[in-house]
Amino acid sequence: MRNSAYTFSQKKVNCLFDASFADLADLCSKEKTIIITDENVYGYHKQKMEGFRIIKITPGEKTKNQKAIDNIIDKLLELEVDKQTYIIGVGGGVVTDMAGYVASIFKRGVKLGLVPTTILSMVDAAIGGKNGVDVGVYKNMVGTLYQPDFILYDYTFLQTLPVKEWINGFAEIIKHACIKDALLFSMLERYSLHDIQRDSTLIASLVEQNVAIKMDIVTTDEYEKADRKLLNFGHTFGHAIENLHLLPHGHAVSIGMVAACNLSEKINNLHFEDAQRVVKLLAKYHLPVDIETDYRKVFDVLKLDKKRENEHMHFVLLNRIGDAEAKPITMTFLQENIKSIL
Ligand SMILES: NC(=O)c1ccc[n+]([C@@H]2O[C@H](COP(=O)([O-])OP(=O)(O)OC[C@H]3O[C@@H](n4cnc5c(N)ncnc54)[C@H](O)[C@@H]3O)[C@@H](O)[C@H]2O)c1
Repeated sequence: MRNSAYTFSQKKVNCLFDASFADLADLCSKEKTIIITDENVYGYHKQKMEGFRIIKITPGEKTKNQKAIDNIIDKLLELEVDKQTYIIGVGGGVVTDMAGYVASIFKRGVKLGLVPTTILSMVDAAIGGKNGVDVGVYKNMVGTLYQPDFILYDYTFLQTLPVKEWINGFAEIIKHACIKDALLFSMLERYSLHDIQRDSTLIASLVEQNVAIKMDIVTTDEYEKADRKLLNFGHTFGHAIENLHLLPHGHAVSIGMVAACNLSEKINNLHFEDAQRVVKLLAKYHLPVDIETDYRKVFDVLKLDKKRENEHMHFVLLNRIGDAEAKPITMTFLQENIKSIL
């Protein structure tokens, strides 16, 4: 096990790479730990969690709501959980978001550890302290910013991850490469998803590189005043089509990244010329790169985006692969060009 520590204003977060779930015993005693996980992760990996007290939730985004949080709180009360107890979220982003939220509000904050089990939660959701739940159709509408003491990476969880979830996670990996790391982008071009899935050393190094990219961004800009906004690359168009077409998040972000690349090419002073290279890489990792949609409806959703400021919308665009910048784009320009961008 190797520890990389990252300093936030609230606390230091230890990323424990190449760890085994059994290492949890050195971090927290079984008597003073409650695991929150979902039924899928528990079904595949229950032997790892033997001897722990466990709260299981129904898998999927539909569970990420306040009612499910209230049920968890009832169970914590039944289990007589005190301030010295660790809550450990073991699962994908739904579980890590919910465990983080519960740990931050129960008794005004108990100790938190995360064990991400999807690619997406390893490289993205478990990092940065954002947590919360959806309210109806509004994603992540309620939540807090609360850092875990540690994030434990046990790559054996990935052995049971369905391929569609690998693909979803790679949308965020490609996003990190586009906004911050041209070398990572070239490395992804050399390999395929199949190569990576079969090579545990490659998986470990890829996850660690992506953790470092996101941690660098969120430790320098914890409260999203500057660079943290770059993580929204692909998410503006992505969110608009995700809800309209009920797409998996990674698919929506992939199409959103293509739109952001096309927009970057259209904005002359950026001199971006690599949209096709990004399209090729996304397609190589089995992600969709276009969609038939109702442009008027997409524009109507865009108009309500929280990144809009009167006549402008702030978009994360690329100067080059590995170099992103947030730019104000006028709503009129977006409306006139939406067909050629999306
Ligand atoms: N907090 C943040 O900064 C942040 C960032 C990105 C995404 N998110 C959130 O993350 C969530 C998406 O995360 P996700 O894609 O991990 O989804 P998820 O948690 O729903 O997991 C996807 C599916 O994989 C299953 N699963 C998880 N681990 C498994 C394993 N090892 N083996 C077999 N099956 C497994 C789950 O049961 C689920 O069915 C969204 O709610 C999103 O809002 C949060």
